[in-house]
Amino acid sequence: MNFLCPRDSGQYCDATVGVGGHARAIIERSAPQGRVIGIDRDAEVLNLARQNLASYGDRVRLVHAPFSKIRSVLEQALALPLDGCIADLGVSSVQLDQPERGFSFRRSGPLDMRMDRSQGATAADLLQRVDEEELARVLHDLGEERFARKIARAVIHARESGELTSTGALAGLVARSVPRREAKDPATRVFQALRIAVNDELGELDRFLQDAPGCLRPGGRLVVIAFHSLEDRMVKRRLKALAAGDAAAPDAPRFQILTKHVITASESEVARNPRARSAKLRAAERLPS
Ligand SMILES: C[S@@+](CC[C@H](N)C(=O)[O-])C[C@H]1O[C@@H](n2cnc3c(N)ncnc32)[C@H](O)[C@@H]1O
Repeated sequence: MNFLCPRDSGQYCDATVGVGGHARAIIERSAPQGRVIGIDRDAEVLNLARQNLASYGDRVRLVHAPFSKIRSVLEQALALPLDGCIADLGVSSVQLDQPERGFSFRRSGPLDMRMDRSQGATAADLLQRVDEEELARVLHDLGEERFARKIARAVIHARESGELTSTGALAGLVARSVPRREAKDPATRVFQALRIAVNDELGELDRFLQDAPGCLRPGGRLVVIAFHSLEDRMVKRRLKALAAGDAAAPDAPRFQILTKHVITASESEVARNPRARSAKLRAAERLPS
């Protein structure tokens, strides 16, 4: 909130509204007239946000959409230009904690992993169609998994013998395929890689980073929280390009970076909320043109 600086009568977008924690903070800090348009591609999570934010009436509007479509969502809602936009990437605790969504390796469920359950291929579909080489690449590139080849081989083998029926079966298979050297569950990186692939999270972020800056008015602020080094690198590069003046797009908006160094959660925050340990926040402000 210190970077977003919500103010009365401002117009904000929470591009990953989740259950509405950030949206609530924005709406309270921008009282009495500030507005928030909240976007999420997960209709179930959005329903929780709707309940949690109901008391703010028409100061909050919620839209079921991927944030790659931010410009058209805001155009249709007549919510341009923005005074601030925040994206808090990845999955929410609500999604992780529901085994039936298939994001959890601790509690078994179907191999789904789609944030938007109304469309697209599930993790099970992906695991059915990939070959060993492609799967190893996904696990290595998106999960930074050292044993990607070994795990990919074991997955293809298990798929052929019909063993890959649940997240629990996949987690067990991963645990048996790699030497256990660290405290972290060996399935962590594999599940992260599959989730990013199933939801095309890097493609989504790339399109968001292209379009969101132009949705802000001069003085408007963009805040992005990433949980994965690949995503954080994309954010850092894009903000740097916007600050330097993008040679490829001379009329692109100019920005000033507000976070010289990436912001991470304090020890006490991580103690309260261990899932914040890998969060990396960057922010920038649009300059007058
Ligand atoms: C870390 S949670 C955000 C939690 C939120 N800040 C809150 O206070 O409750 C990330 C949310 O972003 C959503 N999400 C992830 N990628 C998305 C995308 N490409 N488009 C729209 N929503 C997305 C997820 O469905 C999830 O609800």
